[in-house]
Amino acid sequence: MTLIASNFVDWEFGTVDRRIFWDSAIYEREMEQIFARSWLFVAHESQVEAPGSFITTYMGEDSVIVARADAQTINVFLNSCPHRGNRVCFADSGQGRQFTCNYHGWAFGLGGELKKMPKMGLYKSTPGFRMEDWGLKRARVATYKGLVFATFSEDAPSLDDWLGDFRWYLDAVLDAEDGGTEFLPGGATRSVMRCNWKFPADNFVGDIYHALWTHLGGSEPTLGRHGGVKVENSGSYQVSVNGHGWEFNDSFLGNAATMGDRDLLRYMRSRQEAITARLGKFRSDMWGSVASATIFPNFSFLPGYFTFRTFQPKGPLKTEIHAWTLVPRNMPDDIKDRFRRGSMRTFSPSGLLEMDDGENWEHSTSANAGWVTRNQRLCYAMAPEGEEVDASLPGTVSSGQLSDANQRLFYKRWAEMMDAGSWADIPMATKSANVEAAE
Ligand code: FES
Ligand code: FE
Repeated sequence: MTLIASNFVDWEFGTVDRRIFWDSAIYEREMEQIFARSWLFVAHESQVEAPGSFITTYMGEDSVIVARADAQTINVFLNSCPHRGNRVCFADSGQGRQFTCNYHGWAFGLGGELKKMPKMGLYKSTPGFRMEDWGLKRARVATYKGLVFATFSEDAPSLDDWLGDFRWYLDAVLDAEDGGTEFLPGGATRSVMRCNWKFPADNFVGDIYHALWTHLGGSEPTLGRHGGVKVENSGSYQVSVNGHGWEFNDSFLGNAATMGDRDLLRYMRSRQEAITARLGKFRSDMWGSVASATIFPNFSFLPGYFTFRTFQPKGPLKTEIHAWTLVPRNMPDDIKDRFRRGSMRTFSPSGLLEMDDGENWEHSTSANAGWVTRNQRLCYAMAPEGEEVDASLPGTVSSGQLSDANQRLFYKRWAEMMDAGSWADIPMATKSANVEAAE
């Protein structure tokens, strides 16, 4: 059967075929067409600060090493030995000068290059054997304000093109304060959910709707019996660029309020004026609002110095969540620690709010075991895409946070990448000449 992904998604009428959350052939196509071609988030620069420091992570199901070679260079390469395929590095993170494979002792440098192996002379005497042909396969690497991305696609557009005007919105968390940001040490978790990776990615790209119901019980201890945070379609937006999406409102201190720490709210209030002076009122509202975002395909976050996470695919029915807490470097240490604890209390494997989400995503996935069930479509018809609320704002902006607009555009992008033979067939949003003019 020829697989045409655009047949599974109808973004005009807002329906999605459930088989994309279950079918193993579709999942394999995702690995090739989406994960092997996209710019994927692999690390924050603060995780690989000193030369020789490294972490291991995943690009799709490919295990990779992210290693800093020197002050200017971060390399990303496959974590699988080209000799017999063994995993080269088993540590989550560390510091060193080379990576030595456990099986026969081949040793690789901080750029993945093959440096030496036992009995090297027996290889060097082989006609045509060249050390430089047998390094660990390297990815292209680029950064945006502390976030490190990599792609195995030779002909992918630049990271700047891939993020496009979404960078203007990203600055609301990455460039709100002098000194840049960091992932907090000790604020990271890994957990596994038995769900398809797209359910959490689509939840973060634009589904504030679920918070009114799923998180009602969980948020009462922090927000009070009747919530206290506004989620309405007045004063709220969804923005989408190249499948990346961010939904937000003007309810300042929204996300941070769910952490249930009044000192954090006081701290954020104390920073509001300076952040407004730096970014303008629109983006300072985004910084503090009830909001969530996904950078296509699987990197999501809650703005307001909160959880940043990747949804790593582990087969069509399993997802590994890697999560961290992002804060400005110049934030006082005691406030950093309060953000870390607040983030752990709410969005960690035992967090008040994460457990509610996980149960839903797991059942949304497992229900598709039924053949008849699997052949029904899901509804993404909430609130037709709004008109451009303000043509001077970058990206595709629709008014109203309670909407499936971003999710429809996420699946539109998904289908475009799944069906495109090459990058030339994948449409890229035009970048604004001067996004600052939008303020
Ligand atoms: Fe790595 Fe043999 S498999 S050295
Ligand atoms: Fe949620």
